[in-house]
Amino acid sequence: MTTTFAIVSTKGGVGKTTEAANLGGICAEFGMRTLLLDGDVQPSLSKYYPLFYRAAFGLTAVITRGGSISADCVSKTSIPNLDIIVSDAPDGALQTWLKDREDRLVILKRAIRSAFVRDNYDVVIIDTQGAVGELQKTAAMAADLMISPVNPSILTAREFASGTLAMLESLNRMADMSSEFKSGDLMALIYGQDHTSDARNIATLIRNEFSTSGSVRVLDTVVPSSTAYKAAATAQMPVHRFDRKSRNLTSGWQVMHELVWELFPELKGRHAQDVRVGATPTHVGG
Ligand SMILES: Nc1ncnc2c1ncn2[C@@H]1O[C@H](COP(=O)(O)OP(=O)(O)O)[C@@H](O)[C@H]1O
Ligand SMILES: [Mg+2]
Repeated sequence: MTTTFAIVSTKGGVGKTTEAANLGGICAEFGMRTLLLDGDVQPSLSKYYPLFYRAAFGLTAVITRGGSISADCVSKTSIPNLDIIVSDAPDGALQTWLKDREDRLVILKRAIRSAFVRDNYDVVIIDTQGAVGELQKTAAMAADLMISPVNPSILTAREFASGTLAMLESLNRMADMSSEFKSGDLMALIYGQDHTSDARNIATLIRNEFSTSGSVRVLDTVVPSSTAYKAAATAQMPVHRFDRKSRNLTSGWQVMHELVWELFPELKGRHAQDVRVGATPTHVGG
């Protein structure tokens, strides 16, 4: 069984791409065969890790072939077990293309449920753009679980309530119309919490507000605000490997392990393995 996560938010700059990259990195180092899918027209996830093999095709082919993934669309990162479908669409082209397709909501789901993905991957992680559009909807529909990073500040908590929940509701309305349309369960990940009491209070508020909501589960793991995330991105490394102070409760190592244990309870207590990079990587775009 392949588990598919979509990282969603109606807002940009909340940490989606960073979370997708780091979750993918640690899943791969746990030995799970992991596929990242860059669903943002700005290809930041595609550039996150060095590639040692760049496939001829990417997201455009997956979508415009009507939802089919084959080996010619899958690039390989320098991390063993971590593959990626790169974003290669000119701005807006796929959104426009999807608009005319009656099956637009299930196109990505079809690709994720294909025998190719089922046979080759344990985990798929889809990064999305911070907006609501056809590409984001088809990504949400393809997911078993959606993770939405929420910044513990009043403004973004409001944005989360109005924007992300509205998106979820519209997906659920479609789900009512056809059993084929079922969006993933939504999990809120408190993300970028700083050390002030204000941020802590707001995190508690978010937790209380959604703890009773049937449609949203607030994860126990909290990702702190830390310069390690940007530094790890610059070094093109997963943060759990870059920030390895394992005794520090908020180190990248510790936080990413807690998240894996929460998402995959059967892995609780186990740790990411040291991995050796197999080849000299090249970068996207040469
Ligand atoms: N935990 C964190 N603490 C501090 N900064 C972070 C953290 N995670 C990500 N960032 C930084 O925040 C910015 C936005 O992150 P990004 O993942 O690109 O967001 P999105 O994909 O939602 O637009 C980036 O500069 C990134 O390096
Ligand atoms: Mg992003």
